[in-house]
Amino acid sequence: MSGLYIHIPYCKQRCIYCDFYSSATREGKKEYIDALIKEFEHRKDEIKEPITTLYIGGGTPTTLTKKEISYFFSNILKDKEKFNLSEITIEANPENLSQDYLEHLIKNTPINRLSIGIQSFDNKDLETIGRKHSKEDAIRAVKQAQDLGINNISIDLIYNLPQMDNEKLLSNLEIAKGLNIQHISAYSLMVEENTALDKLIEKGKLILPNEEEQIEQYDLTIDYLTKNGFEHYETSSFASLSKLSKNKESAFRSKHNSSYWNNVPYIGVGASAHSYNLEERRWNVSDLNEYIEKINKNEPYYEKESLSIKDRYNEYIIVGTRIKEGLDSSYIESTFAQSFSKHFQSQAQSLLKDKLLEKTNNNYTLTKEGEHIANTIALKLMK
Ligand SMILES: C[S@@+](CC[C@H](N)C(=O)[O-])C[C@H]1O[C@@H](n2cnc3c(N)ncnc32)[C@H](O)[C@@H]1O
Repeated sequence: MSGLYIHIPYCKQRCIYCDFYSSATREGKKEYIDALIKEFEHRKDEIKEPITTLYIGGGTPTTLTKKEISYFFSNILKDKEKFNLSEITIEANPENLSQDYLEHLIKNTPINRLSIGIQSFDNKDLETIGRKHSKEDAIRAVKQAQDLGINNISIDLIYNLPQMDNEKLLSNLEIAKGLNIQHISAYSLMVEENTALDKLIEKGKLILPNEEEQIEQYDLTIDYLTKNGFEHYETSSFASLSKLSKNKESAFRSKHNSSYWNNVPYIGVGASAHSYNLEERRWNVSDLNEYIEKINKNEPYYEKESLSIKDRYNEYIIVGTRIKEGLDSSYIESTFAQSFSKHFQSQAQSLLKDKLLEKTNNNYTLTKEGEHIANTIALKLMK
């Protein structure tokens, strides 16, 4: 198993909360796609086993025209023996998903999963956070995709938005449930430094729910979705239980994202994309023009770092405090030096006593109380 992530950094406009790398200019898109293809050509032998998942993320990949997206696919998938793809996802925005565009994706590309950035079904929220679509566009996009036969759809929602209360959140979740989709990514709003959101909050122009209300919205999201047919398999990820895999998990867990959480290698191609090969992490330059120029001049376009045992242990802890499977003490014992295992055991004991962790056999998972302070727990277990 291995994954390929492709970053398409174009957005028509920036959402006020966003600090992902993206650009509003559309000039040079062809040059960028050519640079992506070149990077992949250089790197395709880095991973020995066939690539099983492909994820095209952004930015907004659906700002690519039909012609650009066909050109991209016919070049990137040229070397057939490099791929044994089971999941091919594209991040899409509702306003780009016209009938015509969807038909093109279905007929002319191998995409079999859509991840639609909806964020909220409330038109006022959408306006506040700078989205270009309405509630009606979002519902239409999902239904149109379903009518055309796409049967693996995920939507992104954000809770704890300014002025959001439980009633509004519940209404968002009810609409999402009614759409019979296979996956929901529900994120708590993160206020990233220097974003427009950050500045508006600082000036008092937008007000967020208080800490207690934020925890309530987190609990409400989990309670509602788990009572309504979704498996909560990662902090922000919910997969429909309408189809199960052999080991009784939802068959609709995101295979690509799960590889990030399960120590599977992946190549990230494009400006600001990250890669991991079990030993090293590397990240490409963020700037679009610098990326194109460096790829074309065969100059170094990335930085990298080797992961020490301590880095790996800490990453295992961060991921394990987010995923349903939790942390496995026998894995820690067999993979890391004894000092790590000892540290884990002593910290875990005190967290068990405080009812922030619970234990089944060798597996440690966060209690509901623990989930509210997941970062603090991760810091306690880390070295
Ligand atoms: C890479 S982003 C962009 C995807 C898509 N182009 C869009 O605009 O919806 C993927 C998702 O991360 C979430 N996200 C991005 N920034 C966030 C923030 N500051 N707080 C919470 N969620 C965020 C949003 O739900 C978003 O759909």
